[in-house]
Amino acid sequence: MTESLPHWHLLGAGNMGTLAAWYLTRAGHTVSVVTDSPAPPQHKTLIFAEHNASLTLPCVSPSQFHSTITHLLVASKTPYTEAALRRVNGHLDSMTLVLRFQNGMGALDGRLPPGATMLEAITTSAVKGQSPQHTIVAENTTWLGGLPQPPAWFEGLQRHWPNLCWEADIRWVQWKKLVANAVINPLTALHDVPNGALVSDPSLQQQARALCAEADTLLTALDSRWPGNSFSAVLQVARDTAGNTSSMRADRQRGATTEIEAINGWLLRQAQRHGMDLPSHRRLIEALSGQAPT
Ligand SMILES: NC(=O)c1ccc[n+]([C@@H]2O[C@H](COP(=O)([O-])OP(=O)(O)OC[C@H]3O[C@@H](n4cnc5c(N)ncnc54)[C@H](OP(=O)(O)O)[C@@H]3O)[C@@H](O)[C@H]2O)c1
Repeated sequence: MTESLPHWHLLGAGNMGTLAAWYLTRAGHTVSVVTDSPAPPQHKTLIFAEHNASLTLPCVSPSQFHSTITHLLVASKTPYTEAALRRVNGHLDSMTLVLRFQNGMGALDGRLPPGATMLEAITTSAVKGQSPQHTIVAENTTWLGGLPQPPAWFEGLQRHWPNLCWEADIRWVQWKKLVANAVINPLTALHDVPNGALVSDPSLQQQARALCAEADTLLTALDSRWPGNSFSAVLQVARDTAGNTSSMRADRQRGATTEIEAINGWLLRQAQRHGMDLPSHRRLIEALSGQAPT
């Protein structure tokens, strides 16, 4: 007997949430967007390199839930996680599987019911735009993981989602992405420059080197097998995305709250737990807190 495919409730139908919903629906899953109040279906356009696609997602609001949510996809920006979770308050339980599709770490820590299962997603793909138009700027690798075995539906999803990988122990993949985000994003946001400035500007490169060294010291304290050497990996990302505006720079340019608390803030909180300080990360958080670009 074949198992039925999941119905996902999506929190945050922005760029990443829409791309994930697209691949899930291609693989036969169904997806509803969770909204604050009853709303008509959302008609989305996804602009891929070689074709455009249309996706219609029904909306469901808290007053319309009749049973527990079995599959929840969280793709809101991290500062809005708590607000987004309020929409599903009382509708999650130990049987719920949550897929967290966000940058940074820890945005769901302590916010899920006991026993709920969590999967983490990390992607190096990039999507830009403003709902309902989402432009897929790069389709690279996406990793799902965090459980010893993939869910039964993973293999089917992999057939529809390009470069989707399973990683049972996803921590190092997360940490690698986290360090790149913790260096490139705040430096480019603070100085209002594209990612490539970390390669071309010796002073920014020096700051990037210090941030990487602090992150590597902490991550080695968390796991002595951590390979370190983050600086060369981060510089390669800055080189590969030289013309891009980081999401933190874009958030800051439009006066939105950035994800720094889930990125550098997570590193700093881990360091404090281990009696360590990360002065370069701490100073960057202070410099970026609540300030628009000057
Ligand atoms: N875009 C990328 O290329 C990319 C790449 C890698 C990782 N990520 C990560 O993916 C996550 C989502 O990023 P994104 O680019 O998809 O962001 P986004 O396009 O801004 O979408 C985020 C969604 O969050 C919801 N939201 C916004 N403000 C809210 C509020 N005050 N309360 C509740 N919900 C709110 C909105 O969805 P509703 O209208 O449905 O509420 C919004 O569409 C982030 O953690 C980001 O770092 C993104």
